[in-house]
Amino acid sequence: MSEIKKVAVVGGGTMGNGIAHVFAMSGFDVDLVETKQELLDRAVSTIEKNLDRMVSREKISEEQKSRTLENIRPSLDLTESVKEADLVVEAVPENFPLKKQVFIEIDKTAPERTIIATNTSSISITKLAAVTDRAEKFIGMHFFNPVPVMKLVEIVNGLETDPDVTEKIEKTSKKLGKVPIPVNDSPGFVSNRVLMPMINEAIYCVYEGIGTPEHIDQVMKLGMAHPMGPLRLADFIGLDVCLNILNVLYEGFKDPKYRACPLLVKMVDAGKLGDKTGIGFYLHD
Ligand code: CAA
Repeated sequence: MSEIKKVAVVGGGTMGNGIAHVFAMSGFDVDLVETKQELLDRAVSTIEKNLDRMVSREKISEEQKSRTLENIRPSLDLTESVKEADLVVEAVPENFPLKKQVFIEIDKTAPERTIIATNTSSISITKLAAVTDRAEKFIGMHFFNPVPVMKLVEIVNGLETDPDVTEKIEKTSKKLGKVPIPVNDSPGFVSNRVLMPMINEAIYCVYEGIGTPEHIDQVMKLGMAHPMGPLRLADFIGLDVCLNILNVLYEGFKDPKYRACPLLVKMVDAGKLGDKTGIGFYLHD
């Protein structure tokens, strides 16, 4: 299999711009694809801001920042961007019909050799792979927010993923300075199967009046050395995203232990989604 050099990242939201950032910083030639100029501009300016932060903390030089930005080609044309890509990383919102449409288009245009990776945190890799005619070249590449900081890439193998593809994606993840951990496709993979029940239990502790969000978070930060408490983390991830993943676990395993706390459901219904709406378990700027 040929080496991965040219990458198309589809979707420039929080995860997509972080993924483009780390590929470009590691010398890959990156097309960052969005649907609207405004979204593309926002994605590029977020990358610039995060690179500036790395320069000010002396993690990278001004020259590395410029080189990283030079490696990114903003694009509004998905077809054009995947035409010569060795790897396409999809990071559009967690919505099956939307992802399906994107994968059909990528599969139609990308060369036969192109590997398609998805950054989904909740949808079955096997089900997404089945939308394409290249299930053996389809894989989960699950990054964590903030992407430039978090070391893990959870590499998720679908039912038909070719082991050579897994190996190649592991090697590529290492080139990004990340630690790839291979797992098999299953609801929530490993990361969210373990993380979301903990967040859900923390929400139950609020719901049952056992502690305040601040106190519950302090318990986990000071007692368990978590960088953020579970409720602060839930706000950071997005309460809608947490609820969606819990529902995937609940439906996938048909096990009541994954039942989302009624308080989480109410907060999502009320539009209190965490950082992105300015209010969740905490008030945010
Ligand atoms: N880009 C680049 N660098 C960034 C950054 C970004 N977006 N965000 C933070 N940083 C860097 C900072 O520059 C700083 O670097 P130095 O240590 O070299 O100075 C470092 O990260 C720490 O940042 P801060 O000092 O600003 O803040 P902090 O110490 O409070 O750390 C945090 C912030 C890194 C987010 C930390 O709180 C943390 O690790 N939290 C847990 C995050 C987590 O669990 N993420 C996974 C969520 S789950 C997910 O993403 C997937 C899913 O499927 C739901």
